Amino acid sequence: MNASSNAGWCWLNGRIGPTAEATVGVTDHGLTVGDGIFETMKVTNGVAFALARHLRRLRRSAAALDLDVPLTDDELRTACDAVIAAATDAGDEVGRVRLTVTGGPGPSGSDRGDAGRTVLLVTGGAGRWETATTVAVVPFTRNPTGGTAGVKSTSYAENVVALARAYAVGASEAIFADVHGRLSEGTGSNVFVVRGGRLLTPALSTACLAGITRELVLEVTDAVETEDLTLDDLRHAEEAFLTSSTRDVQAIAAVDEHALPTPAPGPVTVAVADAFARLVARTTDP
Ligand SMILES: Cc1ncc(COP(=O)(O)O)c(C=O)c1O
Repeated sequence: MNASSNAGWCWLNGRIGPTAEATVGVTDHGLTVGDGIFETMKVTNGVAFALARHLRRLRRSAAALDLDVPLTDDELRTACDAVIAAATDAGDEVGRVRLTVTGGPGPSGSDRGDAGRTVLLVTGGAGRWETATTVAVVPFTRNPTGGTAGVKSTSYAENVVALARAYAVGASEAIFADVHGRLSEGTGSNVFVVRGGRLLTPALSTACLAGITRELVLEVTDAVETEDLTLDDLRHAEEAFLTSSTRDVQAIAAVDEHALPTPAPGPVTVAVADAFARLVARTTDP
C-alpha cells in the first residue's frame, strides 16, 4: 500500500487540530508499554463504515484489557464525525480514521495509572492496494491462550517485525499460523482460502482477530469458518484472499515462492469482492 500524503487531522481528548500539532505525554502507557486498543475504519463519502461493529469490537478489546473507555458510543461517533469533517473542510481526502484508547499517563512499569485515559482519532488517506498480492509465511505464531489473543491492542511490535520480513522477500503481507500449526491471519488482515471448491476461513479459536470485513464476508457469502486449515492449505489453495477494513478483498497470487494455480483474482475471489462492494454501496452501517 502507498501511504497517503494527507497529513491528517486529530481529535485528542476532545480537541481537534492538525495531527502534526497534536501531542501525547511522554509517560502515556500506550507509548511506554503498548497498553492500548484501537480500531481502523474505512471512510466512504465522509462516513466511517461499519462504525457500530467497530465500536462493539473496541468495547470487547477494552473489556479484555480491563481498560475503561471514558466516552459513550454516541460521544465517540460525534468525535469521529467531527474529525472527518475537520479534515474534509481542510481539503483532505479522508479514506480512513483510526480510533485509539490508551491507559493514559502512567508509571513506566506495567501497572496502569489513574490519571485518565488517552482517546484519539486520526484521519488518513485511503491508500491504494494492488488487486492481487504475494504473502509470506512467518515463523512467529498466534497464541490462542495469550492474554491479548484476538484483541486489537496497540502492542503490534510482532506484526511490525513480521511485515518487515514479508517486505524483505517482496511480499506485502505476512501470514501467521497459531501455536498449534493452524492457519490464523495476517499482520493486518484475515485470510480466506478455497479448498475443494469450498470457501473457508480460520476460526477465531486460532487467535485471529474477529475482523469486521471477515465477519461481513461470512454474512454475505457461503464461506464458513473452521479450525481445520493449515499453512499447506494456504500454499495449495485453489484461490485465496485477504480481507481488511482498508483493503476490502485482496486476491493472493502467491504464497512465498508458490504461485496459486488460478490466476489471481480467481472467480471465487471476484464474486466475493463484488458481493462486498455491493454491500458497501448499499449501506455505511451494515
Ligand atoms: C491482526 C489483524 N487481523 C485482521 C485484521 C482485519 O480486520 P478488519 O477487517 O476489522 O479491518 C486487522 C485489521 O487491521 C488486524 O490488525
